[in-house]
Amino acid sequence: MIRRFRREDLPRILEIERDAFPKSAYSRYTFLYYAKTIPDNFLVYEDDESGEVQGYVLFDDDGHIISIAVAREHRRRGIGTSLVRAVLRSSGGRAFVEVRESNIGAQRFYEKLGFRRVGRAPGYYEDEDAILMELVASPSLPC
Ligand SMILES: CC(C)(COP(=O)(O)OP(=O)(O)OC[C@H]1O[C@@H](n2cnc3c(N)ncnc32)[C@H](O)[C@@H]1OP(=O)(O)O)[C@@H](O)C(=O)NCCC(=O)NCCS
Repeated sequence: MIRRFRREDLPRILEIERDAFPKSAYSRYTFLYYAKTIPDNFLVYEDDESGEVQGYVLFDDDGHIISIAVAREHRRRGIGTSLVRAVLRSSGGRAFVEVRESNIGAQRFYEKLGFRRVGRAPGYYEDEDAILMELVASPSLPC
């Protein structure tokens, strides 16, 4: 099930975050800031059987994906896809994201969902360029 972030999710979200983004993990304060300012746009994926939180997404109303991560041991099971579909339901079918140039796995993930490369942001990250990717969902994309 996908639901809004709750404060008690924080330790697990930080665990997922630090493993997913060892060089640039968001802090507890950043997550709490987003939970306060955009509570409808901070979603977690909770496994129905175990109740374990296995991923999260943060996004703006216009479909800008601020961050998304799935716990390593639960990847390639469709959780990331479910989270992006939740973004699309909320944004009216539009989504865009910046991805590290070296993060080929994430680029493949977005391409599989129908995102296209629309540009590059030099020096977006301290040590690397970002690839800009965008999706306008077709009416046929199942949400
Ligand atoms: C990117 C990420 C969120 C994808 O989550 P996920 O739950 O594994 O994605 P899904 O299972 O929905 O993947 C759907 C499809 O995307 C593609 N895909 C996903 N990860 C991929 C990878 N590492 N390499 C190549 N293709 C990939 C595949 O086609 C996959 O379908 P398949 O498993 O049937 O082949 C996850 O890998 C992650 O948390 N990565 C670390 C954090 C990160 O890079 N976030 C994005 C920052 S912009």
